[in-house]
Amino acid sequence: MQALDYSNARILAPMVRIGTLPVRLMALEYGADLVYTPEIVDKAIAGAERVVNEDNGTIDYLMKGVSVFKTHPSEKSKLVFQVGSANAELALQAALTVAQDVSTIDLNCGCPKRFSTHGGMGSALLEEPEKLCGILRNLVQHSGLPVTCKIRIFPDREKTIKLVKMIEATGIKALGVHCRYRDERPKKDPAHWDRLKEIVEAVSIPVIANGDVMEFEHLTKLQELSGVTAVMYARKAEANVSVFRKEGRLPLMEVVQTYIRKCLETRNHHSNTKYVLMQMFIDNTKSPHYRPLCDAKNFRAVCKAMDMEHELDAWVASQSAKGYPTDLDSVPRKAGEEKLQQQQQQQEKAREKRKLEQGVNEEAGESVTKKHAAEVVEKEEIKQDSESLAILPSAGAEHVAVACVAALT
Ligand SMILES: Cc1cc2nc3c(=O)[nH]c(=O)nc-3n(C[C@H](O)[C@H](O)[C@H](O)COP(=O)(O)O)c2cc1C
Repeated sequence: MQALDYSNARILAPMVRIGTLPVRLMALEYGADLVYTPEIVDKAIAGAERVVNEDNGTIDYLMKGVSVFKTHPSEKSKLVFQVGSANAELALQAALTVAQDVSTIDLNCGCPKRFSTHGGMGSALLEEPEKLCGILRNLVQHSGLPVTCKIRIFPDREKTIKLVKMIEATGIKALGVHCRYRDERPKKDPAHWDRLKEIVEAVSIPVIANGDVMEFEHLTKLQELSGVTAVMYARKAEANVSVFRKEGRLPLMEVVQTYIRKCLETRNHHSNTKYVLMQMFIDNTKSPHYRPLCDAKNFRAVCKAMDMEHELDAWVASQSAKGYPTDLDSVPRKAGEEKLQQQQQQQEKAREKRKLEQGVNEEAGESVTKKHAAEVVEKEEIKQDSESLAILPSAGAEHVAVACVAALT
């Protein structure tokens, strides 16, 4: 059970809906040393069926016929699978389900959103260290993979140190630290970089710093400040995944074009493709590409919005010539899935209603454009997204709905 090499690593953080396969592959190509999957809730993946797609070599994990996790062998040696769990047995089942295609299992102990903490997952685990450590120990002893976890810090230094020492004693191989408190938000509250040193000094495993890591040079800066082993990028990579290039970031449209090509190569569903692109344009909403993107209802419209229809045509022609499928708009289903679909539609309606109620608070003060983006994303996309679990009748669905708002605020 070889731990990953964290020394001087720049890492793509776990990001629901954003860190799907095309983004992870691009991050690695641009220079990321390791990549995390989005958090996937234990129940949503435990026991999923593994299917290898012969057209592009990708591997889908299907739950009731719907892909909940897609990967490619080329990322395996750098891939950390993040599980959301409050149950040692289910966490292990989830880990064992994907074990052959990933290199490490990470437990999410940092998500502060209500849907997650209600289930006892995410940052709720920080208040139940025995349970948290029980989950980690079970994974360490029985998953056959290296295990890590990602936490937030407490305002209280001693409490934080006590926790990280307990966590280290479970046998995990590295500790991700989002250096914010549970009730702090990335957009409003600066990360507490000054709290990293005490954690690094308290443990002997690699510490991965997360929170406001924005520049390529931040690795060196944080190492000098605190002695951390590695850094992890979330929002900056969401906006432009070429942040991992040592030569500097690429222009947005160049990244966009590469992204669409990757989506075609990996057959990424149109709704996730559109969602990720919208986040890339969130600070460029005056771009002529943005409105057509918001209005896009299928993969062709997304490509058209980006002036990339010709790439789609070429891909469709080559796929068709080989007899491979070309539909990127509907979620693959097996026969007899109508009931599931009906349940999902009902959940979708309930979720939209909740979102509408929540949105009044969460989006207060945000620009009209961002509100518009949130509306488009919620209405047009959540219902069909596959890897991010939005369509699954599980806590995963809740997770995504709320995370979408988080991503836009
Ligand atoms: C869109 C989005 C989705 C996220 N999803 C997850 C997740 O699945 N698991 C997790 O541990 N953290 C998640 N986070 C939190 C980030 O991994 C990271 O801890 C946080 O954004 C702080 O890093 P930053 O300042 O570089 O953005 C998410 C953040 C964003 C912006």
